[in-house]
Amino acid sequence: MRAYRAALLRFDDEGRPVYDADGLLVVGPDPSAAAGAGGGVRVVRAAGSWSALKDRFPGVAVEHLPGRLIAPGFVDLHIHFPQTDVIGSPAEGLLPWLEHYTFPHEARFADADYAGEVADFFLAELQRQGVTTALTFGTSHPASVDALMSRAQARGLRLIAGKVLQDRHSPDGVRDDTEQSLADTEALIQRWHGQGRLGYAITPRFAPTCSDAQMRGAGELAARYPEVWIQSHVAENHDEVRWVAELYPDARSYLAVYERFGLLRERAVYAHCIHLDDTDRALMRATGAAAAVSPTSNLFLGSGFYDYAEAHRHGLRHGLASDVGGGTSFSPFHTMLAAYYVGREGHSKAGVSLAPSQLWWQHTAGAAQALGLEGVVGNLQPGCEADFVVLDPQATPLLARRSSQAANLEELLFSLIVLGDDRAVQAVHVAGAAQGLVRPA
Ligand code: GUN
Ligand code: FE
Repeated sequence: MRAYRAALLRFDDEGRPVYDADGLLVVGPDPSAAAGAGGGVRVVRAAGSWSALKDRFPGVAVEHLPGRLIAPGFVDLHIHFPQTDVIGSPAEGLLPWLEHYTFPHEARFADADYAGEVADFFLAELQRQGVTTALTFGTSHPASVDALMSRAQARGLRLIAGKVLQDRHSPDGVRDDTEQSLADTEALIQRWHGQGRLGYAITPRFAPTCSDAQMRGAGELAARYPEVWIQSHVAENHDEVRWVAELYPDARSYLAVYERFGLLRERAVYAHCIHLDDTDRALMRATGAAAAVSPTSNLFLGSGFYDYAEAHRHGLRHGLASDVGGGTSFSPFHTMLAAYYVGREGHSKAGVSLAPSQLWWQHTAGAAQALGLEGVVGNLQPGCEADFVVLDPQATPLLARRSSQAANLEELLFSLIVLGDDRAVQAVHVAGAAQGLVRPA
C-alpha cells in the first residue's frame, strides 16, 4: 500500500464535489480480487482528510505533496486516435472536413506500422494531459484497433476502442465490406473485450456511411454482446441531419434511425447530440444511451451548441469529450472551458452557467457514469481503480497568482479550467502505478 497527502478532490453519488484541503489517498491491492486476479490493478483503499485517516494506516509510506491537488484521472468520452494529425484542419463544416481531410488521412491506417506509431504518440499524449480512460474510434482497418489495444494493454490503461464500420458513401481506402466488417468486429470483440482493463465498442461511424445491412448487423452484435459498448455520432451538423432525413424519409428523426437498428441501449455513447428534439432526449433517457458532449469540436467545425438546459431537464446522461481531431485539444482543461462557453451561449438555446465542479464531474465521474463505469474509474472513492492526476495550481505565473486568490473550491477549480493546461499536470498514476513524473516539482 501507498498513501499520498495533498488536497484531494472526488465526487459523491449525486455528482457533488467532496474536497479535503489536507487530504489522504490510500492506494493498494484490491481486497475483493481473487488471488492473482485483477492483473495488479491497485484501487483506492481510503480517501478523506489527513487528520481522520492518518492513524488508520500505520507503516504505510506517505508521499507528501504540499500545494498539490490530487483528482481523478480524466475520462474522454469520445475521441478518434487516428485523427491525432487531423487537428486544426479548416473546412466549411463537418461533411467537407470529413471528405477533404479525415477520410484521406484515415486511409493511411491500412499500414499497421503507421497505426502503431500514431497509437504510441496518442497514448503518451493522453497521459501527458491527465486523461486515463478514453472511448476511442479506430479506423475501418481492424489492424488499427490491434495497434491501439496492444499498446494500451502494455500501459495498463482502461481504454475502450472499436473498428469503424463504414460500408457506403465513403471513398476507397476507408470503405469496408459489409459482411467482412461485421466478422472483423466480432473477432475484435473476442480478442480484446475484457482483456485486462480493455473494452470493445461497436463503432458504426454514423448513419450516412453505414448501409442498413451493416447497421442491422451492428445491432445484432450489440444484442449478443450486452457488455460491449456502442459508439457513434448523431445530430452534429445541419447538413448531416438533412442528409439522414433524405436517406431515411420515413424515420421520425436521426436518432430514431439508430433505435430502429437496436443501437440505443446502456453503454451506447453518441457524440454531439446537438440537434435533438424533446422526443429524442426522452428516447436517450429511456434507453440509457449517453451523449458525448464535444465542445471544442462543435466550436471549431461550427456545428452548434449542446443544449445543457434541455439535457438537464430530461435527465440525459452525458460527459465531456475532446473529439480530436474535429476537437482542437487533448487537454481536459481546454474541453471544460469550451463546455462552459457552450453552456453560456444563449442565442440558439437557453444559456446556463455551469459550475466548475459540474464541468469537472462531466469529465471524470459523470463520463464514467455515462460509460456504465461508475465506481470503477473517474472517481477516488474507496474501491475505484486508482487512476489519478497530481495537479499543480502554481504551474504558471498567472495560474499561480489567480489560484492563490481562490476563496473556495469552485474558484480553485475554475482557475485551473480557465488558465490550466498540460503544464498543470505534474504526474499521472494508472492503476496505482506512477507513470513517471511528467514534470519535475
Ligand atoms: N461524423 C462522422 N464521422 C465523424 C468524425 O470523424 N468526426 C466528427 N466530428 N463527426 C463525424
Ligand atoms: Fe467524433
